[in-house]
Amino acid sequence: MGRPVLRTELCDLLGIEYPVILAGMGPVAGGLTGPVATAPLVAAVSNAGGLGVIGGAGFSAERLREEIRKVRSMTDKPFGVDLLLPSNYMGAAAGGEMPRDPRELIPAATREALKKIVEDLGVPWQEMPREPAAEPRRPRAGGMSDEQMEVVIEEKVPVFASGLGSPAPWIDRLKANGTKVLALVGNVKNAKRVAAAGVDIVVAQGTEAGGHTGRVATMALVPQVVDAVAPTPVVAAGGIADGRGIVAALALGAIGVWCGTAFLVSEEANQPDLQKQRILAATDEDTRVTRLYSGKTMRNITNPLIEAWEAAGIQALPMGLQGLLIQDLVYSCRKAGREDLLMNAAGQVSGMLNRIRPAADILHDMVAQAAQILARDLPARVTAIPES
Ligand SMILES: Cc1cc2nc3c(=O)[nH]c(=O)nc-3n(C[C@H](O)[C@H](O)[C@H](O)COP(=O)(O)O)c2cc1C
Repeated sequence: MGRPVLRTELCDLLGIEYPVILAGMGPVAGGLTGPVATAPLVAAVSNAGGLGVIGGAGFSAERLREEIRKVRSMTDKPFGVDLLLPSNYMGAAAGGEMPRDPRELIPAATREALKKIVEDLGVPWQEMPREPAAEPRRPRAGGMSDEQMEVVIEEKVPVFASGLGSPAPWIDRLKANGTKVLALVGNVKNAKRVAAAGVDIVVAQGTEAGGHTGRVATMALVPQVVDAVAPTPVVAAGGIADGRGIVAALALGAIGVWCGTAFLVSEEANQPDLQKQRILAATDEDTRVTRLYSGKTMRNITNPLIEAWEAAGIQALPMGLQGLLIQDLVYSCRKAGREDLLMNAAGQVSGMLNRIRPAADILHDMVAQAAQILARDLPARVTAIPES
């Protein structure tokens, strides 16, 4: 049998065979193993006809450069890099110097509240041993990912995607390199903002999505974003893990899909086996949105710690500072052998995933099913004659 054919405008825009993009997924489980979407997964998706995207969040600038070069050694197909560009994070508004140990900025009440929850779950709280910086730190002058963005530009990557915030300050330099620019949004307001900044593609991500996510569901969000940003093309994300999801996204006006959770259970996904197994075991109701792990709303496979944090109603700290607090949590959980309490970002489609497979097989089956539905199943099941 030949390969299935499924082409949209996205294929021409990005130079790919199928209109499916691997979400640029960053680290889970405390980050010790690095981002989920690293070279093996990215190259596998690109080689199979989709677009692989490196989860650049969690990589230092130099590690990101190495990973870009590794992808280039594994595929000659287009690929991308995703980075988080939030406007609100630790140090963003700091006018003066930061302390040598920024953990001093964590309010004692927040630390004590988390410590109590963790200890109530039987995990002794232990602060991660850390050398304070030799000098007081300067707040960052620009954004959280400025150094990584310079690498993206120097390496002339084919595609850049911003996961949070806006790529506006970088667009001219990216486009001068021929880089296609995508921006993830979770509402119409932000979609209009990034479209006005000149991105090539808006990725409308519904709340079903794993990882950082907004409040509007994909079914409601995508058509509203399509209408709001036309003629800028839109890719749909959140809750899409098979061919049925692809067809639905195309029907809503998207030109392709951006998928994370579906590839979390690929052989090449760089995350601990525990995280993969918990996704396979999850039902449709087993995810929950929490600010616990990063300070921003993030969908995870839930666990007793998330449930207790949410029940306590504690206000999370800004991104970065919450991450520092969580370093101690991660350290404590690892010491106690309770990795099940660590971040396990995944979306509501976790309930439909039931085996670990090569990424190329996942992509192939999604595309083949979509082509089957569009070419055979829908025409056989639906009678539709447009108004003349
Ligand atoms: C484990 C995990 C890590 C993620 N990390 C990032 C990230 O670093 N940057 C980003 O833009 N999106 C990130 N996301 C969100 C994805 O880009 C994507 O929007 C989402 O996975 C799509 O929904 P789905 O999970 O239902 O496919 C992450 C998602 C998951 C599941």
